[in-house]
Amino acid sequence: MNTDKVKELDRNYLFQNYGRQELCFKHGEKEFLYDLDDRRYIDLVAGIAVNSLGYAHPAITQIIAEQSKRLIHVSNLYLVKEQAEAAAALASVCPSPLSSTLFVNSGTEANEAALKLAFKRTGRSRVVATYNSFHGRTSGALSVTGQSKYQEGFEPLISEAVDLIDYGNVEQLKDAVTKDTAALILEPIQGEGGVILAEREFFRTARDLCDERGALFICDEVQTGMCRTGRFFGFQHYDVVPDIISLAKALGNGYPIGAIVTSGEIASTFTPGAHGTTFGGNPLGTAIAKTVIETMVDEKIDAQVAEKGSRWMSMLHDIMDRSEGRIKEIRGQGLLIGIEMGKHAKDVQTLALDNGILVNVCAGSVVRLIPPLILSESSILAFNDVLNQFLE
Ligand SMILES: Cc1ncc(COP(=O)(O)O)c(C=O)c1O
Repeated sequence: MNTDKVKELDRNYLFQNYGRQELCFKHGEKEFLYDLDDRRYIDLVAGIAVNSLGYAHPAITQIIAEQSKRLIHVSNLYLVKEQAEAAAALASVCPSPLSSTLFVNSGTEANEAALKLAFKRTGRSRVVATYNSFHGRTSGALSVTGQSKYQEGFEPLISEAVDLIDYGNVEQLKDAVTKDTAALILEPIQGEGGVILAEREFFRTARDLCDERGALFICDEVQTGMCRTGRFFGFQHYDVVPDIISLAKALGNGYPIGAIVTSGEIASTFTPGAHGTTFGGNPLGTAIAKTVIETMVDEKIDAQVAEKGSRWMSMLHDIMDRSEGRIKEIRGQGLLIGIEMGKHAKDVQTLALDNGILVNVCAGSVVRLIPPLILSESSILAFNDVLNQFLE
């Protein structure tokens, strides 16, 4: 089957709710994807920060093959060995007191569970969130997503219970978190919003205010977690420990799985029957998650990302310095990098594609680089060449 045939089937039989590029991939290896005509692409998108260990990582393909022969699904009516082992592995990479995990199936569901947990734990119903955030598409997660473009047409949400503040604004934060606040939800870096960073003071104040006023501090690590920023979790850059973290994306390296991690004490709020999912924590997904965590620890992916990311950022800054203002800003941490290109972001994406490189454009003007974390130096240099070519 060729790409045109796939396009025809897509048009005829699928919801047209995605603005898809006309590319169709057959297989992948490391940071490379191959289309139906066997053309090779350097993938700097990684399924939107998902395929962090790259395509066809031997440890991942092996566990999928072995576990799928043993047991894929059994339900949470029974003890699940792989789920318990994956939770133990997660606890081993989380700082204390984050030690109890609830597995779900996506980032949205993780945030939904985090919010419900905070409501039940505190007996309060207000949430503080930030403009320009992204937390998911279900009613609860969408309500704390501070971008009206995602909410329009889907009201009423629970937006009346959400107090939005500017990301990074310490004064607004101080006013917004009150004794009525159940939770404050923050991304360590706003990913979908355009790779926006906040100062350490913002996160330190968030932690102090939540302690003082009895609110729970949720860090949405769906995009920043699992070594993406050069630490295992994004919050670790700010010397704070949140009450709840939500995870998904790279946790399954492509297999859909999400999780929230919190303290044993907060976790005890969800008594049997309080929350649940049929598929969440199934043996296949959790066997994969455990393997992802162990592989990341064994291969010291966090340190590798910190090193690669800072080297790439400094190369990109050199290119920006020579860009005569056409590159407006380079932002990011580790291998979550945003290049602020103004109206030229799509042009860079097109030129990259002409050169066999996939990049993502977010927030309209930002070329976002969220590659597999195992990418090679030559792929980094290939993208830099494209950027130089664009500026020429
Ligand atoms: C920070 C953040 N939270 C939540 C989500 C939603 O995750 P999912 O698409 O797995 O539901 C995303 C997805 O991009 C995200 O970046």
